Amino acid sequence: MFDYDAELRLHNEHLRAATHINPHDRVLDIGCGTGQTTRQAARAATHGSALGIDLSAPMLEQARKLTHDQGLTNTTYQRADAQTHPFPPAHFDLCISRFGTMFFTDPTAAFTNIGHALRPAARLVMLVWQSHDRNEWATALHQNGPGPFSLADPTTTEGILTSAGFTHVTFTDVHEPVYYGPDPDTAFDNALHLQSFATNHTHLRATLEAHHTDTGVSFDSRAWLITARRAPYGDGSSRHSPT
Ligand SMILES: C[S@@+](CC[C@H](N)C(=O)[O-])C[C@H]1O[C@@H](n2cnc3c(N)ncnc32)[C@H](O)[C@@H]1O
Repeated sequence: MFDYDAELRLHNEHLRAATHINPHDRVLDIGCGTGQTTRQAARAATHGSALGIDLSAPMLEQARKLTHDQGLTNTTYQRADAQTHPFPPAHFDLCISRFGTMFFTDPTAAFTNIGHALRPAARLVMLVWQSHDRNEWATALHQNGPGPFSLADPTTTEGILTSAGFTHVTFTDVHEPVYYGPDPDTAFDNALHLQSFATNHTHLRATLEAHHTDTGVSFDSRAWLITARRAPYGDGSSRHSPT
């Protein structure tokens, strides 16, 4: 399984610093993968809890194992589609996501659904990639489609979040390298794992060799750290606006 925790170590510090979790918070982690961010949230919410949601059964299996191994008792996971899952209404104080919200087929509907799960004025804090051309890992290694970059445009994304009932939307530029491994061989295996298409192995190896430094194999990247607030009901929320 690709080690997103190692790849995103530097990004994670930006997310962690922005979450400001209170001890009693109930935290929802969207697209939690193997759950590093869910467990981080649970450790800060000492009298609260964290729920990680993901579509991938193998990732959740690994998340549950790590959570058990680390002795956390306020952390749960659920296999569900965040776009449509019937979350308990107005339940969570904070929604976080580390690159787990860019794959929605109808982002406005998805964020509206997530918003229903948040209490009024609850916060959303998430990392998403900026555009394809600003991410060297994508331009040099992967011919990814629009998926990972679907929330890259701040104007469009602010419009989506506002339509979904969020206010106070902010974007902070996160400019950190992504890490593919300590050496080109490990990075090659990791890069192949992330490829969704056949690739020229000779060219891939050469690219990884060219990015090998004393600190391992890394590529430049740009992300947005997005924060927003669930609108108090009746204040900017499309759900409660007259139709
Ligand atoms: C790039 S991975 C990030 C995983 C994790 N947040 C991390 O940083 O390690 C994106 C994750 O989002 C999940 N995902 C994508 N669409 C989803 C959806 N509609 N509902 C729930 N999870 C979803 C995928 O299964 C995947 O695990």
